[in-house]
Amino acid sequence: MKKRVLSMVLAAALVLGLLAGCASGKKDDKKTEDKKDGEIQVGIVLPTKDEPRWLQDQAQFERVLGEAGFTNQVLFSQGSSATEKTNVETLISQGIKVLIICAQDGAAAAAAVEEAKNAGVTVIAYDRLITGTDAVDYYVTFNSFAVGQAQGQYLIDNAPEGKDVPLYLYAGAATDNNAFIFFEGAWSVLQPKIADGTFKIENSSEAEALKDKTELSRDEIAKIIGQVTTDWDFNVAKSKAEANLTSVDGNAKGDVLVLAPNDGTARSIADVFAADKEIKSYVITGQDSEKASVQYIIDGKQSMTVFKDTRTLAADSVDMALSILKGDTPATDTTYNNEKIDVPAKETPIIVVTKDNVKKALIDSGYYKESEFTGL
Ligand code: BGC
Repeated sequence: MKKRVLSMVLAAALVLGLLAGCASGKKDDKKTEDKKDGEIQVGIVLPTKDEPRWLQDQAQFERVLGEAGFTNQVLFSQGSSATEKTNVETLISQGIKVLIICAQDGAAAAAAVEEAKNAGVTVIAYDRLITGTDAVDYYVTFNSFAVGQAQGQYLIDNAPEGKDVPLYLYAGAATDNNAFIFFEGAWSVLQPKIADGTFKIENSSEAEALKDKTELSRDEIAKIIGQVTTDWDFNVAKSKAEANLTSVDGNAKGDVLVLAPNDGTARSIADVFAADKEIKSYVITGQDSEKASVQYIIDGKQSMTVFKDTRTLAADSVDMALSILKGDTPATDTTYNNEKIDVPAKETPIIVVTKDNVKKALIDSGYYKESEFTGL
């Protein structure tokens, strides 16, 4: 943590230095010297305001970029690839040098970032990879495979005794590359338990048909996601869970396990399972540590979440943007293939949060205030 704060202070000092150079018109800083009044250096495009997850990122960006002295603007695409493209075009016209973008649709966003790249902008994919294009320069992400693994492992560690334990699978949107990685991570640990009959999949004939395969191809995962997608939408998640519980008999109820891909969908699905009289207990996963889910965990309505510290992701992106504005090559620690190129990436670890460590992970770390919750 100390290291992070120090690196942010250094980042702030360096950027302030750059801007000071700009104000005094130093010749050795061409990039900032070129900046005209009203120009934005760093543009940020996030998928939607309707999910608390992205409001967390927005808050961190505004804080970190503001502290570092960047001129910046955060725009939301509100679930529309067309709006996303317009947002990118607006930012290009405002003179951005670096675009940090979390794509609404990983494949559709290719056209928008190609436009940015052609305008000389360096593109950083944020959290979600943009696929099928060479116009992505860098990728800043959490370890999404580890997110899925942690969700699957939690279900295994907290499963009721016995065989044929009912398991309900849900996934994110098929347009989001992360949905595939999360599912892949979860499958990597759940599959042996499904194959040996400990768990029984209740809501996906495609997953059931593939239960003996340790590793799934993208097409195979796509088939499963086709059946169990929530589209990252609370209402879709709710209706899907309702339809699933309506179509099964009593053997598929009792004490059950639910792989929910994130917090928003977990709350919707949990409410549906809680309302069903034949469900005696459920263990349900999540991710993002959204405030509402933290309260659900405290209240025993959601079992776990995965804490993806948006302070770190935003700070990593700002560090990257800073290197780029200075003309340096940003530090990366891995690569992600986007079906066209291997994109240099910076990966951040994740933390599993349950009732037992919620205070330590989220309150003591300063992410949330204790007063924002009841019963802690
Ligand atoms: C993000 C998750 C988020 C989901 C829905 C994913 O790409 O990694 O944190 O919950 O999108 O917005």
